[in-house]
Amino acid sequence: MRRTVFGVVAMTNAFVPALRRSEHPRIVNVSSSTGSLTVSSAHSGGYAAYRSSKTALNALTVFYAHALAEHGIKVNALAPGLRRTDLNATAAASGGDPAEAAHGVVRLALLPDDGPTGAFISWDGTPVPW
Ligand SMILES: NC(=O)c1ccc[n+]([C@@H]2O[C@H](COP(=O)([O-])OP(=O)(O)OC[C@H]3O[C@@H](n4cnc5c(N)ncnc54)[C@H](OP(=O)(O)O)[C@@H]3O)[C@@H](O)[C@H]2O)c1
Repeated sequence: MRRTVFGVVAMTNAFVPALRRSEHPRIVNVSSSTGSLTVSSAHSGGYAAYRSSKTALNALTVFYAHALAEHGIKVNALAPGLRRTDLNATAAASGGDPAEAAHGVVRLALLPDDGPTGAFISWDGTPVPW
């Protein structure tokens, strides 16, 4: 929670002055489909702290999307999918290529000015239910 939620608040607030000087300011919060209340409502599962911290991150994404809209700053959340990283042994065994998730981050970081804000988007560009 400290890193996923309070760390994001500190980072976002610290970078707003620099983002306001950008011609195409974008914020991409790396969330998880496990933070989706819709997904959690349909499936039981563990990782209560992790999942609820991502749900809180999603709420911050919506909050900042509205709060920063007047400055043209687009704020979106990405669900990267299960990836082979150091995060957990399960991902290392069965996860996909982390590069695919990185492409998803870059896509949101390079959104055109008519692109979405306050959205929850999967690594492949499809919407994720909140
Ligand atoms: N892997 C998956 O399947 C998956 C699925 C859904 C969502 N995600 C999300 O994707 C994001 C990246 O996860 P990952 O799978 O790439 O995990 P990872 O391989 O464990 O990498 C985490 C990265 O975060 C850095 N980090 C950790 N604590 C930090 C701190 N306090 N300040 C600055 N950097 C810090 C680490 O730096 P050091 O190496 O220096 O420690 C590391 O580079 C996370 O938000 C995770 O929740 C991952």
